[in-house]
Amino acid sequence: MSFSVSIAERARPLEQSDIRSVTQRVERAGGINLGQGICDLPTPQPIKARAQQAIADDHSIYSHYAGIEPLRRAILEKVQDENDLPASSPEEVMVGVGSTGCFVAAAFTLLEEGDEVVLFEPFYGYHRNILELTGATIRYVPLGGPASTFDRKRVEDVLTPKTKAVVVNTPANPSGKVWTREELGSLLDLMQKEDLVAITDEIYEYMLYDGAEHVSLASLPDAYERTITLSGFSKTYNVTGWRLGYGVAPDPIAEKMGLMNDLLYICAPRPLQHAALAAFDEMGDDYVAELQSDYAERRRLMCETLEDIGFDVPWPEGAYYALADFGDLAEERSGFADDEAACETLVQEAKIASVTGRSFYQNPADGKYQLRFCFAKELPVLRQACEQLRAAFG
Ligand SMILES: Cc1ncc(COP(=O)(O)O)c(C=O)c1O
Repeated sequence: MSFSVSIAERARPLEQSDIRSVTQRVERAGGINLGQGICDLPTPQPIKARAQQAIADDHSIYSHYAGIEPLRRAILEKVQDENDLPASSPEEVMVGVGSTGCFVAAAFTLLEEGDEVVLFEPFYGYHRNILELTGATIRYVPLGGPASTFDRKRVEDVLTPKTKAVVVNTPANPSGKVWTREELGSLLDLMQKEDLVAITDEIYEYMLYDGAEHVSLASLPDAYERTITLSGFSKTYNVTGWRLGYGVAPDPIAEKMGLMNDLLYICAPRPLQHAALAAFDEMGDDYVAELQSDYAERRRLMCETLEDIGFDVPWPEGAYYALADFGDLAEERSGFADDEAACETLVQEAKIASVTGRSFYQNPADGKYQLRFCFAKELPVLRQACEQLRAAFG
């Protein structure tokens, strides 16, 4: 073949992430995947039943681009009651293709070439990659793990007249940090002084430990007008493959995000929008309480195992990942020279997939001695994974 297609510049840097390739390697080895942030717990029955009903009822055609009205109303009530957002109309809610689809809609609504956007490290790779696609320049700010405190000065250091937005992920993937009200207040103050907008990713809002409280930035006084709040159903209701999320923002922004959603996807999957209503009218506080105690058990199992085999583990305050440090092991054992070597050693010797620390930093050296483990697994599977880690490295 002599013809070779010239790929657009924006597509050239795209490649299969480390996360996918380690997934394939561990699958070949018949191992357990603690790498990819997929949660393979079962979807709650009421949600499944409504999806089946919606399909049987032929709710199959496109919906309104921003989602079916009853779902937007239910989300409005939820963000008013649980997140204390001063949203007042379903027009301020858009339902999209996962919170990721909403993040795309938000990023393309707000940002363009010439703009600058602040992203905290360690970051979630999709945030980085989507922001890059908009043409905006990313200014990275180190934030650290659950025990670190937001340092406003570090943001001030990267601000320029072109800085337009800041991305806040709380509870955070991969670090497990949960932003406190004080930290959000300090950020908001800076946003007000510098005329910045925030996009918040709150997809892990219910995965909280040790009494950590989830606070939505948009609930702080005068924050709503400059904040796009994103969340979704994937993590709380174990429906990552359904692709259902939502964004809440003041009317003019939400309207454009809805239209961006229309342009890119037309609408979120229609029958599944009907099914998601069950999350609000059939599943209440008991569901969340059980989810939290189950995750607390998984977190304990994961973090204790990693500590026992020589990792230094800042226990997450939220989300379902442990971003563990193996600096000590690197000195004591072969196979742990850096994150790539350690990741491969875990696949070979324990048949466990993890994610290399470098995936979460602009400078790969910053993640040289870190691996991320996802503990959103059925308990027997997680127990088995922990046994494999202990057998190989204990
Ligand atoms: C921080 C964060 N945001 C968003 C997502 C994806 O959410 P959704 O399935 O709603 O697109 C993930 C999944 O791993 C995540 O870790």
